[in-house]
Amino acid sequence: MHLISKLNPHRERAEMAPKTVIMMVLFGLISLSAINVSFADTEAGLILNFYKDSCPQAEDIIKEQVMLLYKRHKNTAFSWLRNIFHDCGVESCDASLLLDSTRRTLSEKETDRSFGLRNFRYLETIKEAVERECPGVVSCADILVLSGRDGIVALGGPYIPLKTGRRDGRKSRADILEQYLPDHNESMSVVLERFKNIGIDTPGVVALLGSHSVGRTHCVKLVHRLYPEVDPVLDPGHVEHMLHKCPDAIPDPKAVQYVRNDRGTPMKLDNNYYRNILDNKGLLIVDHQLANDKRTKPYVKKMAKSQDYFFKHFGRAITTLTENNPLTGTKGEIRKQCNVANKHH
Ligand code: HEM
Ligand SMILES: *[C@@H]1O[C@H](CO)[C@@H](O)[C@H](O)[C@H]1NC(C)=O
Ligand SMILES: *[C@@H]1O[C@H](CO)[C@@H](O)[C@H](O)[C@H]1NC(C)=O
Repeated sequence: MHLISKLNPHRERAEMAPKTVIMMVLFGLISLSAINVSFADTEAGLILNFYKDSCPQAEDIIKEQVMLLYKRHKNTAFSWLRNIFHDCGVESCDASLLLDSTRRTLSEKETDRSFGLRNFRYLETIKEAVERECPGVVSCADILVLSGRDGIVALGGPYIPLKTGRRDGRKSRADILEQYLPDHNESMSVVLERFKNIGIDTPGVVALLGSHSVGRTHCVKLVHRLYPEVDPVLDPGHVEHMLHKCPDAIPDPKAVQYVRNDRGTPMKLDNNYYRNILDNKGLLIVDHQLANDKRTKPYVKKMAKSQDYFFKHFGRAITTLTENNPLTGTKGEIRKQCNVANKHH
């Protein structure tokens, strides 16, 4: 029984039929090596409060740092949220996003899809605070995910209990990143397909895109909707605002010109995004598509009406996203610094 509960830490024993139990014991006895394999895999899964014994203050320290940083720079919370997508959405939640370029590899941060990602140095601030308390224990992958969780709360979003126990990868995925992260003008079919591959359903996708209720979009990602001709589907009042913010067909890359994603409540993670996109004020083509594709529109309408409904699916989808294929157990490493893999001797 001990063995079985270890193999199935999340399953209610009461749910298991006696036959299943017997089968599993037999299977286990027959195949010793298989037991070993499944032990390694399941014992090392993500769990709630993974650092309970090894670093009991870890989650509090992260939360405290996120709040301190948020007080000084509100936009750090946008970054922690977006990081979840850009790290966990690309093959694995292993903090590969945070690695700097090396002589041999390009970092994920420097690819076109990562345009506008910011505040990475403040993630090191959080890591340093955790390292001061428990050196070498808490992974950057978990810090990335938990800072995202706490950032969501800072922005007025729901508190989402998230598991921990992720370990850090050693290599950049810059070369395959575009196969995972949709572009700003991707079709809804591609967007839905990409998320489905990691277990996120249509309402989950609609809820995740609600993240575009905060933050900004740079003109370089928008000018194709304004020049040479204005995209006729855009709300005319919003076009005026966008043209004011993005006056040049080819934006000066050094000028940091951008439009806020949600003019109404730019600092709040709320369901205003859904009303915006229904009013044809979505900035990106994917935002506009979300409100017009027949597969997603019904959920957009529901989320526009009910913040609770939005938060419910948002919490569910963030949970799935943050549990995407993590490194656990003895795989990967616990990085000393989030921007570089540990040195091997
Ligand atoms: C089809 C999927 C998505 C596409 C194509 C997309 C694309 C973009 C683009 C182009 C920007 C503007 C970046 C800039 O110019 O600075 C942006 C911003 C942002 N995205 Fe997404 N995104 C997607 C999904 C998501 C998801 C799933 C999340 C969160 C879980 C997210 C969170 C954010 C946040 C918070 C910002 C604002 C960042 C800031 O102001 O620093 N996005 N996104
Ligand atoms: C079980 O796995 C460990 C490594 O995880 C290995 O050292 C050991 O030899 C394995 N035992 C069996 C019975 O396969
Ligand atoms: C999407 O926009 C990029 C520029 O950001 C462009 O190179 C690409 O051709 C566009 N793709 C589609 C499907 O329109």
